[in-house]
Amino acid sequence: MERQALAGRDFIETIDWSVEEIEEALSLASELKEKFKRGEPHRLLPDKTLFMLFLDKSTRTRNAFEAGMTQLGGHAHYLDAEKTQVAHGDSPKDMGVILSRYGHGIAVRHDLIPYEGNPYMRDIARHAEVPMINLQCDVDHPTQTLADLMTIREHRGQGLKGLRVAVSWAYAPSYAKPLSVPQGLCTLLPRFGMDVVLAHPRGWDLMPEVLKKADRAAAEGGGSISITDDMDAAFEDADVVYPKSWGNLELFRDESAALAASRRYQDWICDARRMSLAKPEALYMHCLPADRGNEVADEVIDGPQSVVYDEAENRLHTGKALMALTMGGPA
Ligand code: CP
Repeated sequence: MERQALAGRDFIETIDWSVEEIEEALSLASELKEKFKRGEPHRLLPDKTLFMLFLDKSTRTRNAFEAGMTQLGGHAHYLDAEKTQVAHGDSPKDMGVILSRYGHGIAVRHDLIPYEGNPYMRDIARHAEVPMINLQCDVDHPTQTLADLMTIREHRGQGLKGLRVAVSWAYAPSYAKPLSVPQGLCTLLPRFGMDVVLAHPRGWDLMPEVLKKADRAAAEGGGSISITDDMDAAFEDADVVYPKSWGNLELFRDESAALAASRRYQDWICDARRMSLAKPEALYMHCLPADRGNEVADEVIDGPQSVVYDEAENRLHTGKALMALTMGGPA
């Protein structure tokens, strides 16, 4: 396909893009990764500006997109609610219209409140004349899952049909993490033929409407999604394990109740015993930050099967590809 075909497009959920369009992004990400490693300039977005509005904390996403824009020859502005008038009432329409008049792309993270982030960024996108990139919402974390897909391909090759991926809840006492990573994995990986086994304790269900969408996409892509409340069963014979914590949808507005309820499941940890249930060469994945000693044992996250730093690195290359494809075209 013509790379130009994606100019002006939003990237809010991976499901908004066809498999062919996602392949285009992955292909450009690999190309840019090679150029970055060779020290070859790749200024595909000279003089362009991306506005990044973060309504939650970030290490990887912010730095991947900010550094990525510099490497592409443009500039990324970091905005948050407190230092802008968002806290005083700038509406999604205000942000979409005004930022479109100043620059060439808008990116937003709004992930902490179920059923708010995704409509918020779609509202900005509706009023914007430039592309919108989702840096994590309540529904999806599409720039993360694209990097995850790139990482799986790098370690397991292009053909992923039949690969068994355990996406499991894990215990974490730090905070109620968004559901968007497991939901995004369920929505994306089966479209590339993978069989996702989703494991979580009863009550830690993902959003039912997202799972329905993921099921439909899985059927079209030749993969599948199955659900269990047994972490060991999900790990058995897995090619990839992706255990991470997420919050309880019913208790999201009552974090202390949610964390108290989750304490019953402190044995949902990815340790060496659990890794031994998976295939011997299984990949251990996590989007980070991880709650060490709770979600995962050090021996696993620092062990030979862990690809967490490859995932984190690929946030840069996939992020650059997404910006170049959507924000490309005349300056
Ligand atoms: N994985 C991820 O999105 O990391 P940050 O929250 O640090 O951006």
